[in-house]
Amino acid sequence: MRFDVLTLHPGLVAGPLEHSILRRAQDAGYITVGVHDLREHGVGRYRQVDDAPYGGGAGMVLKVDVIDQGIEAVRREDSRVILMSPAGARFDQGHARRLACGSHLILVCGHYEGVDARVESLVDEQLSIGDYVLTGGELPALVVIEAVARLVPGVLGNSDSFQDESFAEGLLEYPQYTRPRSYRGLDVPDVLLSGNHAAIDAWRDEQALARTRERRPDLLEASTEDP
Ligand SMILES: C[S@@+](CC[C@H](N)C(=O)[O-])C[C@H]1O[C@@H](n2cnc3c(N)ncnc32)[C@H](O)[C@@H]1O
Repeated sequence: MRFDVLTLHPGLVAGPLEHSILRRAQDAGYITVGVHDLREHGVGRYRQVDDAPYGGGAGMVLKVDVIDQGIEAVRREDSRVILMSPAGARFDQGHARRLACGSHLILVCGHYEGVDARVESLVDEQLSIGDYVLTGGELPALVVIEAVARLVPGVLGNSDSFQDESFAEGLLEYPQYTRPRSYRGLDVPDVLLSGNHAAIDAWRDEQALARTRERRPDLLEASTEDP
């Protein structure tokens, strides 16, 4: 799978790609990531990428022509173009699963006051990583890349590791423990030491449901709303 990120701050995106699972996934050839400086498509001698908003107001707005050229420079037949925006749909594991079925994502990062509204007509969808405003779309784009890349077959060594984790079944994950067996009076539940796999599975299902009910009842409500 390929990702292309369009940004005014390539360094902000490139750094995290050098570490951990994203680095390994690139080295093993499961994903490739291109990071592109939108300034290359800037207008005129000073490579202008932004301008004052029509109608007045604070800040600068990223130009539609600059973003359009940035997208066209990397677009393929199989591309899905995504604008990172606080006004987009709230990104979740369902979005990640859907996007992981594709083969090419172009992620457009806004900056400053945002992007010219006409950019919306150039993209397939807009995604927000939560109800707060960041300075630019670089960290949101990395969140999407990381969440999608780890679902690409082969990226996680053991595919069980994402089949059991939070949101896989619409529930939070059950609690996990490792050595030591007892720490400052906190003990690992006996059932996990029992060797009885049926009992362990049942305990984990129970815990996942109880945790979800306590911490994220909205997930249970959403699952009962499904047709
Ligand atoms: C300072 S924000 C612009 C905010 C815009 N003026 C507004 O009120 O919606 C600049 C850029 O950061 C990115 N961004 C900020 N918060 C985001 C979020 N929660 N999810 C996704 N992208 C975000 C977007 O690309 C946005 O164009």
